[in-house]
Amino acid sequence: MFQKDLLKQKVVLVTGGGTGLGRSMAKRFAELGANLVLASRKVENLEAAAAEIRALGARALAVGCDVREPDQVDAMVAKAVAEFGRIDALVNNAAGNFLAKTEDLSPNAFNSVVRIVLHGSFHCTSAVGRHMIARGGGGNILNIVTTYAWTGSAFVVPSACAKAGVLAMTRSLAVEWARYRIRVNAIAPGPFPTEGAWQALMPDPSYEEMARLRIPAKRFGRHEELADLATYLLADGSDYMTGEVVTIDGGEWLMGGEFNGLTIFPPETIDQSFEAARKKRGK
Ligand code: HXC
Ligand code: NAP
Repeated sequence: MFQKDLLKQKVVLVTGGGTGLGRSMAKRFAELGANLVLASRKVENLEAAAAEIRALGARALAVGCDVREPDQVDAMVAKAVAEFGRIDALVNNAAGNFLAKTEDLSPNAFNSVVRIVLHGSFHCTSAVGRHMIARGGGGNILNIVTTYAWTGSAFVVPSACAKAGVLAMTRSLAVEWARYRIRVNAIAPGPFPTEGAWQALMPDPSYEEMARLRIPAKRFGRHEELADLATYLLADGSDYMTGEVVTIDGGEWLMGGEFNGLTIFPPETIDQSFEAARKKRGK
């Protein structure tokens, strides 16, 4: 899809880069010439991902860091700059989530998700943004949200609140930091199979089937599809895009339309019921 050296010499920092979508994005960036910084709590996952990236011929630095802690984030950014001299792009991908009835949430349960997603994205954005502004070379920030950042969703209220906040931060900083040539965009994925998301959100196979049927494309996303979209948004060719959120969900979030739910039936069944309705009206 892209020329092989599209991200050559870019230094990209991916939070949560040791697992799931973060790992897939990081590997794709490395294939296209970027050097990577991977940051999250579990260093063993980061080291394994970093080894895969090095095998692709790129440089990779794994840094243990809890994004909820501003001091750890500052230290992680300093380490990355010491290693590579600069950071060109930040992908705020780290997240936490679980299904819960909102009336059952303790204050600590709400905090546990919001502190990772909203506060963590802010701490990383703030630390990397200060570095980019001081360096004067511009930069690129990409936030991984989800479509319920604007629709809301039952049973994931802390995550919905936090992702909505990250989306507001995306649009706010796109304006505030444009003068420093820092772009700020977001991607809103629908369901993409990962161990982390499936463990948190798909308690049994019936949830998975329900989730799949809700998607007009009738399939989940593929990691490479998301990684290629992220690549486009980090590449210089998308320099005029900022403050945007790009949805990649097979049409899922639009399923709220009144009769869209009928698409779960095969076309023959739909034909039969439409025909029956027509006959009833004598047409
Ligand atoms: C209710 C829960 C809970 C649950 C934890 N808590 N899990 N409450 N239901 N399932 C409560 C605990 O009782 C505790 O409150 C508080 O939350 C903190 O719990 P800890 O386990 O101490 O939290 P912590 O170790 O900080 O872990 C954070 C976490 C965890 C979010 C709970 O799951 C995590 O680290 N997740 C990271 C990976 C992840 O979740 N990936 C999925 C991303 S998927 P009390 O009051 O008892 O102290 C995603 C997809 C979005 O974002 C869109 C899909 C379409
Ligand atoms: P995942 O593998 O569970 O990724 C979450 C990552 O966040 C992990 O690598 C985790 O690493 C890191 N993390 C969690 N808490 C952290 C903390 N306090 N400090 C630093 N890192 C932390 O799940 P995923 O599905 O790939 O999700 C990646 C992103 O895509 C998330 O933003 C998620 O909301 C978004 N998304 C996913 C889907 C989907 O269907 N998969 C859909 C929409 C949006 P450690 O445990 O090592 O810290």
